[in-house]
Amino acid sequence: MSLKNKIALVTGAGKGLGKGIALELASQGADIIINDLQYGESVEALEKQIQDLGCKSWFIATDITREDAVKRMFSFIQNEIGRLDILVNNAGVDRPQDIFSTSLEDWNFVMQTNITGCFLCSKYALLIMRDQQQGKIVNVSSVVGHQGALKGHVHYASSKSGLFGLTKTLARTAAAFGVNVNAVAPGVIETELSLKTHGESGMETLRKGIPLGLGNVKDVGMAVAFLCSDGARYITGTTLDVNGGLYFR
Ligand SMILES: NC(=O)c1ccc[n+]([C@@H]2O[C@H](COP(=O)([O-])OP(=O)(O)OC[C@H]3O[C@@H](n4cnc5c(N)ncnc54)[C@H](O)[C@@H]3O)[C@@H](O)[C@H]2O)c1
Repeated sequence: MSLKNKIALVTGAGKGLGKGIALELASQGADIIINDLQYGESVEALEKQIQDLGCKSWFIATDITREDAVKRMFSFIQNEIGRLDILVNNAGVDRPQDIFSTSLEDWNFVMQTNITGCFLCSKYALLIMRDQQQGKIVNVSSVVGHQGALKGHVHYASSKSGLFGLTKTLARTAAAFGVNVNAVAPGVIETELSLKTHGESGMETLRKGIPLGLGNVKDVGMAVAFLCSDGARYITGTTLDVNGGLYFR
């Protein structure tokens, strides 16, 4: 699984799953470009952890829903860092609503982050990776992309299902220039987002109902690291379920 000397960009890496993924990639030797909306204590702590692992880190504050900002982020990567081996499209949002309480603004907010942001980052990353003739992209979808959202979050489930189509299509396009594109579909992972969605008692109920209990960010990080490694050379367009048995396809 070694990722030594690889350069990886993880979007939304300031906390939660993205932070766990960034740390796991660094544990395997990758230098990390941390993206999030803003710098803060959590990012500072992550930078320190990455450096303690002997890897380099950069922080780029970018809203991945804005094409001009995304373009600037990838220009910086190309001009100042010089290469990009791995993109993990992790940044994501949810709003706790069913269809009746979801406004068009809510719908657009979730779709813009979860799928448009992923499209934009993939597009500009692939321009770099096409020139390099190598690279890996991993999209962070969700179990709800397969089974529908547990609490009726139509925007969230639709965006996560949409990522499967994006992943497969990009996999076909990018194979021609040596780039693998895959997805992971985590189940219930203990982060701020899942706690906000399910509440503490909801998390406890879920824990009891999932064969392997709740997941942690390292569980997802390890799956992503594998998909980014040479061991996954012949895997593309697929989704790796990381859900502890919550849902079997
Ligand atoms: N936690 C879970 O149980 C779970 C399960 C399945 C999938 N996921 C997916 O994992 C990803 C991360 O979720 P999490 O639980 O860590 O959430 P989180 O809310 O803890 O972290 C998300 C991060 O993304 C950043 N972000 C949001 N919008 C952004 C934007 N426009 N540009 C840049 N960064 C932005 C946030 O600032 C935050 O740091 C999401 O895509 C989520 O859908 C999470």
